[in-house]
Amino acid sequence: MSRYSFIWQPVVATLLISYAAAGAPQTIKPGEIWPDDRGKHIQAHGGGILKVGSTYYWFGEDRSQGLDRDKRYIICYASTDLAHWVFRNQVLKLTDPENLGPRWVLERPKVFFNQNTKTFVLYAHIDDGSYRFARVAVATCNAVDGDYKYLKSFRPLGHESRDIGQFIDDNGIPYLIFEDRPFGFRIATLSDDYLTVAKEVCLIPAHLEGGAIAHYNGLYYAIGSALTGWDPNPNKYATAPKLEGPWSEFKDIAPPETKTYGSQSTLLLKVVGTKTTTVIFMGDIWKPHMHWDSRYLWMPVEIGDGKLWLPEPKEWTLDIETGKVVKK
Ligand code: GAL
Repeated sequence: MSRYSFIWQPVVATLLISYAAAGAPQTIKPGEIWPDDRGKHIQAHGGGILKVGSTYYWFGEDRSQGLDRDKRYIICYASTDLAHWVFRNQVLKLTDPENLGPRWVLERPKVFFNQNTKTFVLYAHIDDGSYRFARVAVATCNAVDGDYKYLKSFRPLGHESRDIGQFIDDNGIPYLIFEDRPFGFRIATLSDDYLTVAKEVCLIPAHLEGGAIAHYNGLYYAIGSALTGWDPNPNKYATAPKLEGPWSEFKDIAPPETKTYGSQSTLLLKVVGTKTTTVIFMGDIWKPHMHWDSRYLWMPVEIGDGKLWLPEPKEWTLDIETGKVVKK
């Protein structure tokens, strides 16, 4: 980690603690406006999370109103309890780096930290307005919430790549999940410097996007959404003893008629507490005509013995120390 981050880490932690103590809501409220420390609705759509020390960093698409229409923005927030989020930085403000035209997209950012190079590596889906470019973009920075520099775009292992997901296993090995339209859901390792995709671990021949994985009690759980654009659909999960497979059939994570309670998967976040382990489904409730107002559906899932279930959304609190959840 950079010197910059070492210096600022305690300051960030202190700010977070005082923000939490200031009486801001402790409760996670799925589907509602989620204010940051400035009182602004969090802009971290299609997001990912990186934990550094005891701080969680949430990266996502900034779709605020009034931004420069030619640019695409990625924001980073920090939290020590997953409920209170402090705005840190608009870590990427990018002008169409590949000449993709006015409707170009930069979506679903995911950040990894490379211990060897002490570099934070951001992956995102970069595309043109008709989603034909189908590549990943890579940007790097030496501070978790600094200004990232765009490096390049490519098709992982030569394959089309639209929605991406990140998975960091318990042993620290990072994986990129990507949706390859002709073939399905791919899981791949990164190179030593994380700047490229190294090797395919598995192709699950299922047409799913918004891919996410959790490793829980010796089993891998993969979830994904059907390909219905911004419209919600019944997200599904499968399990496997190893990432390589064999993967089970995909099953519903919630009553199919609820269409995942109007949300779409983006990450499964595992919180290992002193008393229990909680896995949180992180989803987006998209509002394509008012993107800035898109909401988040974060709920702890019922998971174990090969089953995963997203319960009906309710307000809940998390004890970040013990890992325990209380539903209101
Ligand atoms: C969804 C995808 C989003 C966005 C959208 C555009 O399928 O998950 O990230 O790309 O399509 O229609």
